[in-house]
Amino acid sequence: MNLILLGPPGAGKGTQARFLVERFGLLQLSTGDMLRSAAAAGTEIGLKAKETIDRGDLVTDDLVVGIVSDRLDEPDVKGGIIFDGFPRTLGQADALDEMLVEKGMELTAVVELRCDDEIIIERIAGRYSCGNCGEGYHRSFKKPEKEGVCDKCGKSEMQQRDDDNVEAFRTRLLNYYKDTAPLIGYYHAKRSLSPVDGTADIDEVTKQINAVITA
Ligand code: AP5
Ligand code: MG
Repeated sequence: MNLILLGPPGAGKGTQARFLVERFGLLQLSTGDMLRSAAAAGTEIGLKAKETIDRGDLVTDDLVVGIVSDRLDEPDVKGGIIFDGFPRTLGQADALDEMLVEKGMELTAVVELRCDDEIIIERIAGRYSCGNCGEGYHRSFKKPEKEGVCDKCGKSEMQQRDDDNVEAFRTRLLNYYKDTAPLIGYYHAKRSLSPVDGTADIDEVTKQINAVITA
């Protein structure tokens, strides 16, 4: 099973991807996480991307298609993938189609997490995550059992993303509408699109996604 999670910043792509990893043993391929890890590791690609990411702009198609293509050559992708935050432009969608054919893989569904701007602003403002294992939290909607301590790995290394500020968020949202929202029409025309109500609570969204992929 190979899925795309499509939606604006803060729609819940990462949150839902983690459930799909647990439930179906899929691999989460988050281009945002990959770029942030590369930046943290100080690689050439990462350092080049960091400034762009912190501004809220998209990195180039060539760069992101390159890292996805390399990742798809690893053997662990055979058990199925969740594309989280990729593709994000029509150019990336075309490149993904070609890569999937080349690597003998098929797309099962494109799940669109529909969300209103007011809701995602609130989600981004309250978001933080574990710096050790990456588990995501929210000040109101998903608190760890013990404040400041990760439920998953037990570490106290909570952190916020550098692009989760008002200015960068505005740019990210604008870029979503300009470059990524056209993919909704693209996948609708290819009969792959399954919209779910991303404004529902986390468990309800998970249920809706499960219904799509087990249908
Ligand atoms: P990326 O990391 O992909 O960020 P994004 O698309 O802006 O999306 P987010 O990660 O902010 O949101 P999410 O949908 O994962 O929400 P989450 O589950 O965390 O990309 C970052 C940057 O990298 C880009 O701006 C760009 O520069 C670059 N980049 C990445 N991919 C690229 C590409 N393909 N091409 C070019 N550039 C690329 O949820 C948010 C919060 O809400 C959390 O606190 C969570 O607990 C909470 N929450 C989630 N669901 C719910 C719910 N149903 N109810 C209540 N709270 C909820
Ligand atoms: Mg994310």
